[in-house]
Amino acid sequence: MSNIHTEFHRFLGRSDKETLLGQRGIVVWLCGLSGSGKSTIANAAERVLHQQGRLTTILDGDNLRSGLNSNLGFNDEDRLENIRRFSEVAKLFVSQGVVTFVSAITPRGELRDMARGILGEDMFEVYVKASFEACEKRDVKGLYAKAARGEITNFTGRDSSFEPPQAPDLILDTEALSVEDAAFELLEALRHRIAPASES
Ligand code: ADX
Repeated sequence: MSNIHTEFHRFLGRSDKETLLGQRGIVVWLCGLSGSGKSTIANAAERVLHQQGRLTTILDGDNLRSGLNSNLGFNDEDRLENIRRFSEVAKLFVSQGVVTFVSAITPRGELRDMARGILGEDMFEVYVKASFEACEKRDVKGLYAKAARGEITNFTGRDSSFEPPQAPDLILDTEALSVEDAAFELLEALRHRIAPASES
């Protein structure tokens, strides 16, 4: 950090942005296995919020890995850097008052702890819960079949570990809930955190 002189103090602050938008920013961090439903739920919830006049964005694992994180793979070190970048980008968005969905496997406690270290109270942790077997059965992207054929190494839940979060803010069990019901539950949990203090 030597020779770096941050300018945060001179620029408009988060509350200026939140007042303009009439909402409060939050990072809704959806973790869970590939194919558990993270992006599908984020997409459904975002569309409802958008209709309600909220400014939202989705930071999605596959999307970021096609751009900002395209130089990263799936070993432990690269996943750590992937999540660090996710966290820092989410921090930029939330500091502009945006309701920011993160859809990333975030397979280990260490990774989620790092995200919380960067985002603090702004991080609302959601475990999108579905067993490996259920995700394998859905296999929307065909990756489980590829991994079974030995064509993908470090595949989460197979030869790379997934530790379920110990104390998430919310669990959405997608083996029991429809997408609509999961999105509804999520929005209920978020409602008073997004509405400006004057409304809630
Ligand atoms: S994370 O573990 O670093 O959080 P991230 O969410 O960014 O992962 O990317 C996961 C996505 O990458 C999956 O949804 C899947 O489409 C794709 N993918 C490709 N290879 C793997 C792999 N080895 N393990 C898990 N997902 C993979």
